[in-house]
Amino acid sequence: MKDLTNKKILFIICGGISAYKSLETIRLFRKNKAQIKTILTKNAKEFVTPLSVASLSQGKVYDDLFNLENETEMDHISLSRWSDAIVVAPATANSIAKISQGFSEDLASTVILASNKQVFLAPAMNVRMWEHQSTKKNLKILRNYGYKIIGPRIGEMACGEYGKGKMTEPLDIYNEVFNFLQQNSKYKKIKALVTAGPTNEYIDPVRFLTNKSSGKQGYEIAKSLYKRGFDTTLISGPTNLTIEEDIKLIKVETAEEMFKATQKNLPTDLAVFSAAVADFKINKKIDTKIKKKDSFIINLEKNVDILNYVSNHNSLRPKLVIGFAAETNDLDENAIIKLNSKNCDWIIANDISKKNKGFNSDFNEVTIHYKNSKKKKEKLSCKRKSEISEEIVDRIVSQFN
Ligand code: PMT
Repeated sequence: MKDLTNKKILFIICGGISAYKSLETIRLFRKNKAQIKTILTKNAKEFVTPLSVASLSQGKVYDDLFNLENETEMDHISLSRWSDAIVVAPATANSIAKISQGFSEDLASTVILASNKQVFLAPAMNVRMWEHQSTKKNLKILRNYGYKIIGPRIGEMACGEYGKGKMTEPLDIYNEVFNFLQQNSKYKKIKALVTAGPTNEYIDPVRFLTNKSSGKQGYEIAKSLYKRGFDTTLISGPTNLTIEEDIKLIKVETAEEMFKATQKNLPTDLAVFSAAVADFKINKKIDTKIKKKDSFIINLEKNVDILNYVSNHNSLRPKLVIGFAAETNDLDENAIIKLNSKNCDWIIANDISKKNKGFNSDFNEVTIHYKNSKKKKEKLSCKRKSEISEEIVDRIVSQFN
């Protein structure tokens, strides 16, 4: 059987008739040596008892956000940090709605909101509830956030109706989580480096040249890599974004700083260059603030091309080098020129001439150009940057398999 020794699962049981199946699911995890902690929602306790869950899981059962003993021993943040994955089964229509809207009104919803781990939801509800537009909308939001939805199945329900909404069988839930955790361990030793955001090139101590990059695309790629288990380092220009604390984040401001940070973090197994690095810096930065009355000429000189340096490195070239091409015109042609001239394995072209995608938007539409592959290019249609990142990382994972 598939062994989960040393893996920690936080199991959240919500209030639905299929809560009884969660006991069997917990038994399977325990049988395969996973450590389990469980949270029962108030409604879950109408269907299963804390005592039965504690005996089966051989672990602590939590149910109260405001329990002093629990909060001092292991608070709601530590509970999420402790786990390798979170499984919500059954995930009722009500819990799905709450999670999708970011509620944190009880221990379960608070832990999920504060979580930095992969969350699996095994929905279970009446077929009409499953088919309701609001449930569909809520699940779409959660998929976009990167939650994994397991099931549900079609069949006869406890209420007597027939259709989709039955919770997935315990063994299938177990297998899904097992596969994720196994993949995660596999990539733990693979180092990934991502650059993101703009750079600031100073004219004087208070003024600089920069661009519109928000860093969103690069941060999402780093998050997706981290979630799959890669040992991820993110080198970021100035942005307002935050990232999971387990991702090594190096904040820089100028292209030169980004270059030095990149050099320091070589060797790496794969590198994704999504930063919008300024091509030019000020030839001679002025040390004091330039006065209004002064007229002056700015002389520019070329910045080092970080991607070019890494992809042409004799001994430290990563196995997979991925560049981005930000273009306003002739997207494919210009991207292919960069693919070859910068010696990348893949280049990801995006159009930065539109307001609703590319630069500083939550959305992007990209074409991946491959150098040494039968498939020459692949278009990923316009979607959220988080989804684009997941699809890019799917391809990275296949490459490393
Ligand atoms: O940050 P967002 O708002 O989410 O927007 C995302 C994005 C549009 C910035 C991103 O998807 C993107 O296209 N990033 C690359 C932007 C860019 O600088 O493209 P470029 O065509 O000028 O450069 C080509 C490649 O060389 C890029 O991988 C770039 O990181 C790299 N480069 C460029 C210059 C330089 N001095 N060093 C580099 O490493």
